[in-house]
Amino acid sequence: MSAIAPIKADLAVHGGTPVRSTLLPYGRQEILEEDIKGVVDTLRSDWLTTGPKVDEFEEAFAAWVGSRHAISFSSGTAALHGAAFAAGLGPGHEAITSPLTFAATANCVLYQGANPVFADVCEDTLNINPEHVADRITSRTKAILPVDYAGHPADLDLLLEIAERHGLTIIEDACHALGAEYRSRRVGSISHMTVFSFHPVKHLTTGEGGMVTTNNPAFADTLRKFRNHGISSEARSRQREGQWHYEMVLLGFNYRLPDIACSLGLQQLKRLEANLARRREIAARYSSALREIPAIILPVILPEASPAWHLYPIRLDSAKLSAGREEIFRALRAENIGVNVHYIPVHVHPYYKQRFGYHGGEFPIAEAAYESLISLPMFHSMSNKDVEDVIEAVRKVVLHYEQ
Ligand SMILES: Cc1ncc(COP(=O)(O)O)c(C=O)c1O
Repeated sequence: MSAIAPIKADLAVHGGTPVRSTLLPYGRQEILEEDIKGVVDTLRSDWLTTGPKVDEFEEAFAAWVGSRHAISFSSGTAALHGAAFAAGLGPGHEAITSPLTFAATANCVLYQGANPVFADVCEDTLNINPEHVADRITSRTKAILPVDYAGHPADLDLLLEIAERHGLTIIEDACHALGAEYRSRRVGSISHMTVFSFHPVKHLTTGEGGMVTTNNPAFADTLRKFRNHGISSEARSRQREGQWHYEMVLLGFNYRLPDIACSLGLQQLKRLEANLARRREIAARYSSALREIPAIILPVILPEASPAWHLYPIRLDSAKLSAGREEIFRALRAENIGVNVHYIPVHVHPYYKQRFGYHGGEFPIAEAAYESLISLPMFHSMSNKDVEDVIEAVRKVVLHYEQ
């Protein structure tokens, strides 16, 4: 039993008054006048697609994370595909990744005709367990794709050590982790390639968009070609140099992030530091308020990490509750709190089950985590009132079902 008394009000799901009258989403973009002005200025300029804003955004982004190169893509998924290509993944190869992620992390391996191999996660951070990774390496393994789940960096030093020993490339899926730090280094400056997403629920948005950062000039060169049909020069440089000749040197795609989107990204980047500070403040408030509820397991922060808090996932201790995750999820939604669940493990999606014969039970830690996870609303423009509403609703619902 909890030390705090349950709130007496009826749950909204049972006909009571909800904590909020309108739904608070789990994530949402913040667009200010300066963002709109930046985009409008680009709409009035000569370049809508690959023009000066792409270079400006990539340079500013690389400087911010502390990497030598940043190559923009039309989405995080396209950026993952580019990284899988640059790592040389192809038929007959394998890449080891976490089952507790968005399907795009594993799909990028399939795009290249290679096979994703899953390794279970650690009980505390829910990031890929380096020991399981080491166990799954074969002569076919080419890459490791750790995911910085919820914005907490994976055990990068250990993974890099394993990669070094076996000649593998680390493609870090940092779509949750822009601004996270690992041993005082910013994510994006550590792995061989690091992938970011600029989807509207992320720390910085370009509508759709993504980025790969790397310190390796050969990866950077391949990534630039891959996102531009495999062509070795860009239209703007050809125009500048007054020549028409170009060569397609590899089979690429049109994965370019346009100037319109990059001008939005440039404005958003200016506020990234402040947005991260706000996310950290919200996470700290959640942790201090929810710590006293025994049925809630809070996200773990390892001493070497400073998470970026894309998500704030709590786990429910089913032994202390008279209702399951589904019921509690529905009750929170009825209170107008836009909770979510991250993630259905990739290997139990029908496509993966049918193609690879998974039936569930293969990765018990990720699967058990999935059964108990609920992501609370987390975005930098949440007001203090929004945060307190979430806390009130979680207390109301979880204490109601605590036994
Ligand atoms: C872990 C992870 N990987 C990859 C992606 C794909 O990014 P995008 O939506 O920009 O294609 C996402 C996006 O939500 C993600 O959360």
